[in-house]
Amino acid sequence: MTTERMADLRVHADRLGSRHLRELIEEAGRLEYLRYRVGPLHADLTKQRLDPGAWNALGAWVEACDWEARRDAMFRGEPVNASEGRAVLHTALRASGSDLPPLAPPAILAEIERAAQSMAALVDAVYANDGARLGLAPGITDIVNVGIGGSDLGPRLAVEALSAHHMGGFRFHFLPNVDGHQTSALMRTLDPRRTLVLLVSKTFGTQETLLNGRVLQDWVASAYGGDTVAAARHFIAVSANVPAAQGFGIPPERVLPLWDYVGGRYSVWSNVGLVLALAIGMEGFRDFLRGGAQMDDHFRSAPWQSNLPVWMALTGAWNRNVLGYGSLAVVPYHDGLRELPAFLQQLEMESLGKRVRPDGSVLAEQAVPVVWGSVGSNAQHAYFQALHQGTEIVPVDFVGVVQPAHDLAENHDALLANLLAQGSALAVGKSEDEALAELAHAVHDERTRLALAAQKTFPGNRPSTTLLLDALTPRGLGCLVALYEHKVFVQSVLWDINAFDQWGVELGKTIAKRIQPALGNAQSPATGFDASTRALIDEIHKVRAQ
Ligand code: F6P
Repeated sequence: MTTERMADLRVHADRLGSRHLRELIEEAGRLEYLRYRVGPLHADLTKQRLDPGAWNALGAWVEACDWEARRDAMFRGEPVNASEGRAVLHTALRASGSDLPPLAPPAILAEIERAAQSMAALVDAVYANDGARLGLAPGITDIVNVGIGGSDLGPRLAVEALSAHHMGGFRFHFLPNVDGHQTSALMRTLDPRRTLVLLVSKTFGTQETLLNGRVLQDWVASAYGGDTVAAARHFIAVSANVPAAQGFGIPPERVLPLWDYVGGRYSVWSNVGLVLALAIGMEGFRDFLRGGAQMDDHFRSAPWQSNLPVWMALTGAWNRNVLGYGSLAVVPYHDGLRELPAFLQQLEMESLGKRVRPDGSVLAEQAVPVVWGSVGSNAQHAYFQALHQGTEIVPVDFVGVVQPAHDLAENHDALLANLLAQGSALAVGKSEDEALAELAHAVHDERTRLALAAQKTFPGNRPSTTLLLDALTPRGLGCLVALYEHKVFVQSVLWDINAFDQWGVELGKTIAKRIQPALGNAQSPATGFDASTRALIDEIHKVRAQ
């Protein structure tokens, strides 16, 4: 952002500084320009600290970034991931559900359709318990998705969120972490002869996934007396590195492809979503794609004034860069969406957690805020005290679902009432005068009354966005996930960041590879590490030797 742009935005922030949200919310016309509907999703940004002047200044910012040309370049498959020289075409994975003419190259669309058809054949075979057709073991009851990061978070979010749409009767398990506690717990509870393992890794080089994959291969093989060919019938791989997957013992017909132009955290729409397709069936999976495509069509066609991803991005950047808020809490009021904060942590923080531009120059402004959160109303009983009265202002994304998938109407109304109440309390607050009036008859000593009133005052003026899905359907979830993907894209345009690489995860991986042998060998002194890490390695050896 240029210094002139920042100065211009600050003028608006200063002007708004004296205006409380409780006042702004009541302004005429606000409901018209700060609320949006895209298919099954309603978005209410009326509790953001904006007025028409600030809104127009933000619009001028995104316009000056040439956002439409950059958006179209992504949809067309230009190498917008410059540091890796790659196209970014997760949108092409759902182009079949779009009403607009596709922009992606026809050869890529054809490749994607072929992959979707082989995924459909696989799902059909597993559903028909006719795995033999594809060389799979019969009688599967449990499906384990082994993968981490993008090979876990999106699929897990979707499988859990859409539990009301599951068919086929399978039980689903997710094994992302290299932590052997979870791996051994799963092996204790599952029957290896009835378990299907999906090894999902774009690179097929991820330590956690390969290690767990080997452990599960041995576990299944031992159930067949060491027969590795029989055991292989329990494994399917999804990877862009087909030779490595085959080298792992997965036959080529059971390695589903993935491509360089699909980033891990954007990959749930691809074969990485196999576990979701197995959970909700292929028609359900296609509906999920349609939901994503509906958001794509909106993003591609709406001007900035009415473009929801653009406004999610602009309000986020306004809160981050101009109002100076350092984190964003995501609080879904639906247990099925409990993985949404974790999913968004990777999507937003891996994509936008950068300090330099593609040309290597250092950013002048702050980029991604810390993204965190958990389900409401549980969250209210944990950290909401700080959100209401703490010294740090934390913008919140509230996510709710209007129609539940159960008939406990009173529960659902209570859940939604809590969601609405929190956004209102954060914005409107309770003034000191209101607190004093409440205490007027109960507390007679003035000093005590003033002290108590101060503690019972809610400053308010704390921004939030409310997203309401009509229902938690495959289409609705697809629309929601694509909204956040495009929000991230627009922020990457505003900040001039490559949202599609992640060099920052590499250094720790390299050091871990050097530390592991040092942990395994107590005799040879740990060398080549910093003094603090050396001391920790020594401490581990000391405890093990006791
Ligand atoms: O370490 C980060 C990361 O590279 C993510 O970007 C990715 O989603 C995850 O690891 C898993 O990678 P893979 O699918 O290649 O195993």
